[in-house]
Amino acid sequence: MIIECQKLWKVYGDGGAAFGNEDRSVQERIELAEKAGAYVALADIDIGVERGETLVVMGLSGSGKSTLLRCLTRLIEPTSGEVRYEGRPITNLPRTELLALRRQHMSMVFQNFALLPHRTVLGNVELPLEIQKQDARSRRAAALEMIELVGLKSKEDHYPHELSGGQQQRVGIARSLCSNPSLWLLDEPFSALDPLIRREMQDEVLRLQSSLAKAVIFVTHDFEEAARVGDRIAILRRGRLVQCGTAEELVSNPVDDYVRAFTAEVDRGRVFKVERFMERGEPQAADRLVPMNTSLKDVSRIFAEGANVLAFSDDKHQTVGFMRREKLGEALAAAEFGGPF
Ligand SMILES: Nc1ncnc2c1ncn2[C@@H]1O[C@H](COP(=O)(O)OP(=O)(O)OP(=O)(O)O)[C@@H](O)[C@H]1O
Ligand SMILES: [Mg+2]
Repeated sequence: MIIECQKLWKVYGDGGAAFGNEDRSVQERIELAEKAGAYVALADIDIGVERGETLVVMGLSGSGKSTLLRCLTRLIEPTSGEVRYEGRPITNLPRTELLALRRQHMSMVFQNFALLPHRTVLGNVELPLEIQKQDARSRRAAALEMIELVGLKSKEDHYPHELSGGQQQRVGIARSLCSNPSLWLLDEPFSALDPLIRREMQDEVLRLQSSLAKAVIFVTHDFEEAARVGDRIAILRRGRLVQCGTAEELVSNPVDDYVRAFTAEVDRGRVFKVERFMERGEPQAADRLVPMNTSLKDVSRIFAEGANVLAFSDDKHQTVGFMRREKLGEALAAAEFGGPF
């Protein structure tokens, strides 16, 4: 694990004594703390992210998402519990070491872009390296490379106000990646962007993640976005982790109505993989071989392009299943309404 926490609590105000009693259940401890006048922003959170993995954090406003991100980097000090970076506890790391760790290995993208208005694109992107005291030439080279990677080549000398929202957020992304962090935190990075640009930026994150393989934690309110960018989705409710799993697990097996409400509007054809609907075995003949983790929606697009039989492969490229065009309707109905598959 790049980053993980155990029994992480953040309690504001008095009430520390009350929540610290481990003989009681988590719910009892929350109630005790709140009776004593405290506010429990995070209660007993266990979570971790590996290299190359994207964890999405969701939850209603005030449920503790930003607090969790900030406690993991100790931008906010946890009240209790342990945080480990690459297996090493950082909960008691001295200030100077913590700052060095953050500068070298962690970075964050903010919802409001948080660019410096009087610095150019280049000046903004190279800032983290300037803080690390890298020499001007090497930080310039690194910054230009990141600017190109996020598709802003030729905009280096522009100022933030000369850019669109999407371009500004690309600068924020380039800046956050410039120091080559292992842990990449994005706190509602795209909520200020319109849906089309938002989708483009999601693709951007997917593309960057597939080549850079960071440990990513991504906060969003939008389940569709979560399903697209996340390997796993963690749902917070009033500081508690209520469920953590793949989008498909949350949609098909929500633990309660709170989780169900998050997944209610989602396009199930996009979330469900064809794996759960295909017939097992090898077809006699197939028009195309497609990975079995392809969404049902993409499979229907391929059928619409004229295929009659599709074969599906596992991650070792072995054919493990197939579907005939006639079965697609049933599969789509089962995805939407539940059914015999
Ligand atoms: N310094 C503080 N003192 C007391 N309560 C606080 C403090 N900082 C945050 N909180 C409370 O902690 C809770 C969690 O806040 P947090 O910012 O983590 O929510 P969030 O899930 O990120 O919400 P949003 O979706 O609106 O960004 C909120 O109810 C907030 O009021
Ligand atoms: Mg927040």
